[in-house]
Amino acid sequence: MNTQPWSLRRLHAVDPAQIDGLADVLIDCVDGGASVSFMHPLTRERATAFWRRVADGVATGARALLVAEDAHGICGTVQLVLDLPDNQPHRADLAKMLVHRRARRQGLGAALVRAAEAVAIDCGRTLLVLDAVTDGDAARMYARLGWIRVGDIPRYALMPQGEPCSTTYFYRDLAG
Ligand SMILES: CC(C)(COP(=O)(O)OP(=O)(O)OC[C@H]1O[C@@H](n2cnc3c(N)ncnc32)[C@H](O)[C@@H]1OP(=O)(O)O)[C@@H](O)C(=O)NCCC(=O)NCCS
Repeated sequence: MNTQPWSLRRLHAVDPAQIDGLADVLIDCVDGGASVSFMHPLTRERATAFWRRVADGVATGARALLVAEDAHGICGTVQLVLDLPDNQPHRADLAKMLVHRRARRQGLGAALVRAAEAVAIDCGRTLLVLDAVTDGDAARMYARLGWIRVGDIPRYALMPQGEPCSTTYFYRDLAG
């Protein structure tokens, strides 16, 4: 029996209402100070444009998109980037792990990681790579879930308010 307040699924097509819901989650994460490619404030227009591009990638099979939904709508998401060079057919990048602040610290982030790993296996991808803010909430989560820390790159990106931050690369070997 599913006792969690959310359900997880993979979207093979993304409709306008889902783009809106995904934009809500992205804006909430940036408002909350997460370094996820965007500066603060993130406008709805920019957030929606980002998810439209993701939707295009989902439609072509370049990306796998997972969403979590609760009683209020989409509350979490993660992607696998599948369109990698020809010599990396066994690999995917895990990207844009986002959990709305209303749904955090209940195990949803961990559930999204495990679901993305399962989708990767389904897609024949056995080596996953990601980067996360050094020593942040996400980095702690990936380490806890068995991802291997490769190393840090100082001054890799900016936090939403403009201060530089270090990034840590992780990988997960799902072979065998
Ligand atoms: C990083 C992020 C995805 C984690 O999502 P989450 O749903 O809170 O993750 P989890 O609930 O699995 O784990 C978070 C914490 O809650 C704890 N937790 C999990 N289930 C819990 C429960 N039922 N009760 C209490 N605590 C719980 C975990 O042990 C973990 O603790 P820690 O941070 O002290 O190590 C989320 O904080 C987020 O979206 N951040 C902003 C965006 C971001 O930075 N994305 C990463 C880009 S690389």
